[in-house]
Amino acid sequence: MHRSVVRVDQMLGKAAKGLRGREIVALKHTTSAKSAEFIAREDQYGAHNYHPLPVVIKEAKGVHMWDVDGKQYYDFLSAYSAVNQGHCHPRILDALTKQASKLTLTSRAFYNDVLGGYEEFVTKFFGYDRVLPMNTGVEGGETAIKLARRWAYDVKGVPENQAKVIFAHGNFWGRTMSAISASDDSDAYGGFGPYMPGFDKVPYNDIEALRKKLESDKNIAAFMVEPIQGEAGVVVPSEGYLRQVSELCKKHNVLFIADEVQTGLARTGKMLAVNYDNVKPDILILGKALSGGMYPVSAVLTSDEVMLTIKPGQHGSTYGGNPLGCMVAIEALKVLVDEKMAENAFELGNEFRADMNNYIKTSSVCTGVRGRGLLNAIIINEREGKPNAWDLCMTLRDKGLLAKPTHGNIIRLAPPLCITKEEMQDCTRILKEGLAAIE
Ligand SMILES: Cc1ncc(COP(=O)(O)O)c(C=O)c1O
Repeated sequence: MHRSVVRVDQMLGKAAKGLRGREIVALKHTTSAKSAEFIAREDQYGAHNYHPLPVVIKEAKGVHMWDVDGKQYYDFLSAYSAVNQGHCHPRILDALTKQASKLTLTSRAFYNDVLGGYEEFVTKFFGYDRVLPMNTGVEGGETAIKLARRWAYDVKGVPENQAKVIFAHGNFWGRTMSAISASDDSDAYGGFGPYMPGFDKVPYNDIEALRKKLESDKNIAAFMVEPIQGEAGVVVPSEGYLRQVSELCKKHNVLFIADEVQTGLARTGKMLAVNYDNVKPDILILGKALSGGMYPVSAVLTSDEVMLTIKPGQHGSTYGGNPLGCMVAIEALKVLVDEKMAENAFELGNEFRADMNNYIKTSSVCTGVRGRGLLNAIIINEREGKPNAWDLCMTLRDKGLLAKPTHGNIIRLAPPLCITKEEMQDCTRILKEGLAAIE
């Protein structure tokens, strides 16, 4: 952990009481006493399972957020790409409040007058036979794996308890026991064993490794992969990788599961990131922006053949498919289309990378920029005793732009997709100023 971070954490570890009326000084960055009180309260009463940037947000609208002192920021994280449509989008908010005052939850013990309409809408929207609605992204992943295993036994004919699911090294799909069992990040899985059996990994973006794996084992049910690895640092595979994955999976009767929880829904400049390779995964997992940041809604879409292997009583969730989430999701998807958010992400992303690629030619601190659409990352050259990616994020915070390092020296840049050309140019200017300050 970097020095400046330790210092803030140590000071905020003391009760808020002692901080009132003072400025907390973290080397050259300051966090107001008011913010420090909120931070200290979380620190005292909450689990320490996150390491947030020291900024306390009170309100947000569109691309902007405001902290408890009224300072305005550009949001360059979009809640890990959940707020693609922009904060508090009026149409999504309207759908939420209208439905909230009528019917919020029936559970799936009874039918409701919204779920069927949503199921028809979302399956037609993405071109699948059926959907299984859940809440969080990780539940989407769990559901996809259960479906794949069940299909492997019932349809493919894999012997009982022998089904395998293959993942890519560097994957991230959440925090449940299954998700961490698939992870090769020791922070995520270390100390939580024993782990889920029947999982294996191949290197990401290595089609030969996948070919060998699929040729060597007849019991593989599925290959689950992110079209771009978000948490791993916005790792973009080679052109055609996903097409080859799809062909290979077909050849070996293995399900291709695309985890589009982060890449999906216009973020990368197409409605789905798999659209770049013109492929249709056997199972598609969506989450995050499916509700525009309003409410947890996830979905697993697939064919009759796969979905109908699961029978009543074998899978579900109390909140999954609730009327409130369904109405929010329909509106969230319509907003993406009506406001041409994929097109905007595509165009502004291209301009951004061109601009930054130009900048880094003469930079000693930023060594790369990569991404698709408005899912991008810059790579910071970690130099002994010099400011690092965290320091840059603190500098950007002070300049009114909020972003966070993902893997150590990589900073993900993912603004809401309603951002305008002028705002994006303003943000690029702030970013370059921040970089210049730590060169
Ligand atoms: C690719 C991917 N899949 C799944 C998840 C898990 O989503 P959730 O945090 O909603 O469970 C994430 C979260 O960042 C993700 O990036």
